[in-house]
Amino acid sequence: MSTTPEHPVAQHTGLAPATLVVAVGRPAHEQGGHINPSVPLNSTYVSRGVVTSGELSYARGDNDAWHPFESALATLEAGTGEPGEALVFSSGMAAIAAVFSLVPDGGTLVLPRHAYQAGMVLARQISERHGVTLRYVDIADTDAVVAALEGADLFLAESPTNPMLEVADLPAVLAAARAAGVRSVVDNTFATPLGQNPLEHGADIVLHSVTKYLAGHSDVVLGALVTRDAELAATLREHRTLHGAIAGPFEVWLALRGLRTLALRFERAQATAAELARRL
Ligand SMILES: Cc1ncc(COP(=O)(O)O)c(C=O)c1O
Repeated sequence: MSTTPEHPVAQHTGLAPATLVVAVGRPAHEQGGHINPSVPLNSTYVSRGVVTSGELSYARGDNDAWHPFESALATLEAGTGEPGEALVFSSGMAAIAAVFSLVPDGGTLVLPRHAYQAGMVLARQISERHGVTLRYVDIADTDAVVAALEGADLFLAESPTNPMLEVADLPAVLAAARAAGVRSVVDNTFATPLGQNPLEHGADIVLHSVTKYLAGHSDVVLGALVTRDAELAATLREHRTLHGAIAGPFEVWLALRGLRTLALRFERAQATAAELARRL
């Protein structure tokens, strides 16, 4: 993984990733205008009668405090394609709960043996309460993953995994999921959009614990999902609204501010890891 100017994000926007992370999600450049988005604090928005689709009405359903971060993340995860839709959640776990809700009662979920621990616990609870079959795979074993996809409803790929740092062959396993008609989700928390863009390889959804690398300063707990499928986005948005899994305006603002240094932190973390590996 490296932050080179050839990164797909750069190809899409014409900006190098290090520039992009400081440029996305800003207000329009106007003389005397704000360089940063404000922190709007509203539970309700003015309505002159019937609320039309896409209009803000109640801040649990949609909230302009989320939009700058959501559009920034959608751009960063776009790769060479068009940006999809990003949805910010109250935590990474809230985002995981939203994607698990896509598995029908009695359905089948394929997931890494060593995925993030709380996500595994939630999967076990859902399995017990809703008769969902869990198929655990070694995410680095492409043949095993492909074999496990048959007849499944959802495939969760975490790559690299937390804590084992196993790496999936994402292009191969995502292509197999698509061929098998299995919806796929990639937890991109550890790689970040500067390391890989799973939507480029056919993932239906990208998941982030924004708490970690994206926000980067240990001062917020936040999650996000990104998808290019408008119907799927509507389903996940409805889940967020009905479960109230929503983020506070200031947390989202802090996450966007943290994102500004992502490229620098990413580069330094890689350099440090490489030096540690060399010394060990
Ligand atoms: C890979 C991964 N996914 C999801 C989560 C859950 O995110 P959060 O702690 O923001 O709820 C974590 C948290 O450690 C994580 O490491």
